[in-house]
Formats: sequence, C-alpha cells, structure tokens
Amino acid sequence: MPLFQELENIRAAFLDELKKKPALSDLETLKVKLLGRKGRLNDVFKNIRLVADDNKKQFGHAINELKQEIHDKIEAELSEHSYNSQSSKSKIDLTLPEITIPKGSIHPLSQTLDEIVSIFHRLGFDVTEGPEVETEWNNFDALNIAKDHPARDMQDTFFLKNGHVLRTHTSPTQIRLMQSEKPPIRSIMPGRVYRNESINSRSYCLFHQVEGLYIDENVTFSELKATLDLFFREYYGSDVKVRFRPSYFPFTEPSSEVDVSCNLCGGKGCRVCKYTGWLETLGCGMVDPKVFQSVDYDAEKYTGYAFGMGIERMTMLKYGINDLRLFYENDHRFLEQF
Ligand code: DAH
Repeated sequence: MPLFQELENIRAAFLDELKKKPALSDLETLKVKLLGRKGRLNDVFKNIRLVADDNKKQFGHAINELKQEIHDKIEAELSEHSYNSQSSKSKIDLTLPEITIPKGSIHPLSQTLDEIVSIFHRLGFDVTEGPEVETEWNNFDALNIAKDHPARDMQDTFFLKNGHVLRTHTSPTQIRLMQSEKPPIRSIMPGRVYRNESINSRSYCLFHQVEGLYIDENVTFSELKATLDLFFREYYGSDVKVRFRPSYFPFTEPSSEVDVSCNLCGGKGCRVCKYTGWLETLGCGMVDPKVFQSVDYDAEKYTGYAFGMGIERMTMLKYGINDLRLFYENDHRFLEQF
C-alpha cells in the first residue's frame, strides 16, 4: 500500500520539521504547503481512485486524521509563538524612571495680556490691533509730538529705509482707529513696540504695550480715574492703593501717571519699589484737542481719555521679576513657573 506509506512519509517529514522549531513565517508556509488547497495532502487525496474500493474509506479516514494532526500541531506552535511574543512585552521594566514629556505653558506676557483684555472686556472695551511698521505721521505728528521732540531721536527710534518707523508705542493705533471709526469708541490696543535702547535688565529693543481709548460726548477725567482704579483692583487685588500724579504727554491734556502701592512689600518699602512704597505703572490723560484735529474729530463735541501701559512692566510688578530679558530667552526653568 504505497499510498498509506506516502501518508506516513508526510507525517514523519512534518514532525522532523517541527523538531527544528520553525520560525513563525516558516510555520505559515508549512501549513500552506501541507494543508492548503494545492497542498500535499490534497494531492495525495486525488489519488484515492488508485486505492482498492475496500480500502477507500480507510484511506480517506487516514488522510483526515493526518490533516487534523498537522493542523493541531501547527496551531499549537503558532499559539506558542504569540504567547512568547506577549511575554516579551510583559518584560517591561517597571522600575525604570518614566519618560517625562515637557508640558507647555502660556507665556507670562500672554497671561498678563489675556487678563488685561478680559478685565477691560467686562468694562465694554473691544480690542483693536495695528501694524508694527508705522508712518512717522501716525507714530509722532498726529499725536502732537513735535519734530524736535527727543523721542524722535535716532537714539530711541528705529527708522526704516522706506521712511517709516518701527512704532515706538501703541498710541499710533489710536490714530488709525479714530480715522476709521466715528465715536463712541471704547477700545484697547495691545501690541509689540520697538525702541533703540541698549539691552540690560531694565530695557530691551522691543517690548509690549496696551493702549486704551474711550471717546464720546462728555467723557470726564473722573471716569478715567474710576476705570483705572477698578482695573488695578482687579489686576493686583482689592487691597491695592492707586495714586494719580500730574505728568506730561504731548497727546493728552491734562496728563497723569498712575502709581500703585508696591504689592511685594505692601507699601512698606523694598528694593523693587526703591523704598518708596509705590510703583509707577502707566501714563494717561484726556485726549489733547490737537489729536482730535489731526483725525478730523470735532473737539468741541467730543472728549475722551487715553492710557498706555507696558505689559512687561505689569508682569514684573505682579511677580517681582527683576530682569526683562527673562521674557525673551525662553528658558523653561523660568517659563514653567507661570
Ligand atoms: N505712549 C506712551 C509711552 O509709550 C504711553 C501713554 C501715555 C499712552 C499716556 C497714552 C497716554 O495713551 O494717554 O510712553
């Protein structure tokens, strides 16, 4: 019975193969070679017509048995493989230190700006932005800054080849806003400004400001006072004391500078407030009629107030930061603290 013998040969060869501990891919190949539609066992089965009728049933039975045996053994091997690969996964060393993925945080200057915007938003102010490259007229002339004013000096201003300047403050955005809209106007104008200054712990070639402008009929200085008073209480806390000091700006009349009680020493006097108990924060005043003239507003009909503050300064005062350069160096050890 050579065909029965053939089955035995297949079985023996198969067991030999298994003993060699075939790789996963070899197991798959073996399975197809033996059990596949065009595999060895189906080939042998085709020869069943050569088997004597009496033995046909027995032969069929033997083939099926062998098929089952091969199938079971291969499956057992396969599941052994997947078990091994699983257990290699579970060989993770839980005592290793974790890989820490650095988490980002919102830059302290952005946080301050967000806070300022949200406080003024509640008071009915919207937000206007202007370009960093400005005409000299918007940056100086329209704001009543005289041609010979020291602020126009090459020492302070970056002049561009096309005759424009890098804005030295956010006040020119007031001019743009008044030229594009009629009163009432109630807006804050945040942005980056540039000054040609030597770089040290208290000055940098660029910084950020927020400008404020409110124009309508019958706007008074007392509204300016009340608004800024409330702003500082919201920003520094309700204990803060606010003081208005007479000052001068070409674009406001009367003008004032605003000091707040030093929130680091509570007004007792410390290094940050230079032992005065007060911190200078911003400039403000009633919009000068000359400014209304340059934007063709009727100075008889409208009045308004304006103010401008430095975002870096507001942030430094709040947290007691003593070096401006920290804001631009992107050192994680600094930024993580906010
Ligand atoms: N532009 C001024 C500066 O850069 C700040 C300022 C002062 C803005 C008084 C104003 C203001 O709108 O009324 O120093």
